[in-house]
Amino acid sequence: MSERKPVTLHRLREMHAAGEKVAMLTCYDATFARVLDEAGVDCLLVGDSLGMVLQGERGTTPVTLEHMAYHTRCVAQGNRTAWVIGDLPFGSYQESREQALRSAAVLVQAGAHMVKLEGGGWTADTVRFLVDRGIPVCAHLGLTPQSVHALGGWRVQGRGDVAAAQLLAHAKELADAGAAMLVLELVPAALAAEVTRALPVPIIGIGAGPQCGGQVLVLHDLLGLHPGKPPRFVRDFSDGSTGIAHAVRRYVDAVKNGTFPDPHLHCH
Ligand code: KIV
Repeated sequence: MSERKPVTLHRLREMHAAGEKVAMLTCYDATFARVLDEAGVDCLLVGDSLGMVLQGERGTTPVTLEHMAYHTRCVAQGNRTAWVIGDLPFGSYQESREQALRSAAVLVQAGAHMVKLEGGGWTADTVRFLVDRGIPVCAHLGLTPQSVHALGGWRVQGRGDVAAAQLLAHAKELADAGAAMLVLELVPAALAAEVTRALPVPIIGIGAGPQCGGQVLVLHDLLGLHPGKPPRFVRDFSDGSTGIAHAVRRYVDAVKNGTFPDPHLHCH
C-alpha cells in the first residue's frame, strides 16, 4: 500500500517550487487507479482519450459528460492519494460559463479534484468563473483534440513566430485567470520550454519536449498497447518491465529524473 500523503493543489505547488517534475498518466478505471496511485503517479487524468482507447472511436468528440462522469467515478473509487483530473468533454463547456460550471460540478461530484478544458482566448473567462467558484482548473493548449477538425488534423501546433506568440499569450491569460496547471500537447520543444519559464504553474507536456514541469502519457501507449505505430514521443515502458506496476514505476522515475521524454525525439 502507498504510504504517500494525498496529493493536493498545495503539494503540487510545493513540487513545482522545488523543481520536482509532475508525473501524470491517463486512467479510466478503478483497478488501474489503484495500481498507478501505488506506483507513485502524482496525477490521474480521466482523459476524454477514453473515446479512442476504451470506446474505439477515431477521436474524442463522441465522448459525453455521462461517459466522463462514469469513468471519473470509477477512478475515484480505486484511487487513494493521487490528484484526479476530469476532462470536460466536447460540447459540455463551450456554450457559456454557466454550462461549464454545471458540467464541472458533475465531474467534481463524481470524484474529480480538478477539471481540464481545451483551448485559449475565450476560455480564460470560463477558467476564472470556475476558479472563483472553487473548482481548480487545468488548461490545455497546443494540439487540442476536440478541435482536431479545425486544426487540420493531428499536427504540431505553435510552429512559426505568429503561432508561437499567440500560444504564449493564451498560456499567460489562462494562468492569470487562475488555471493551476497547463497541458501542452504536440508543440515544439523550444516553445514549451519558453512557456514553462514564463508561467508560474506546472506545464505538463505530451510531445512537447523534456523541459516542461511534468509529463503526461496515455496509459495504454506507455504499456505498448497503441494500435499500429505510436507517435514518436511515446516510450513503451512495458518493454523490459516485469509487469504493469513496474512499467508505471519506471515511467514515474524517468519523468522525475528527466530521462523521459527523450531529448532527441521531440518536435521542432
Ligand atoms: O484526453 C487525454 O487523455 C488528454 C491527454 C492526452 C493530455 O487530454
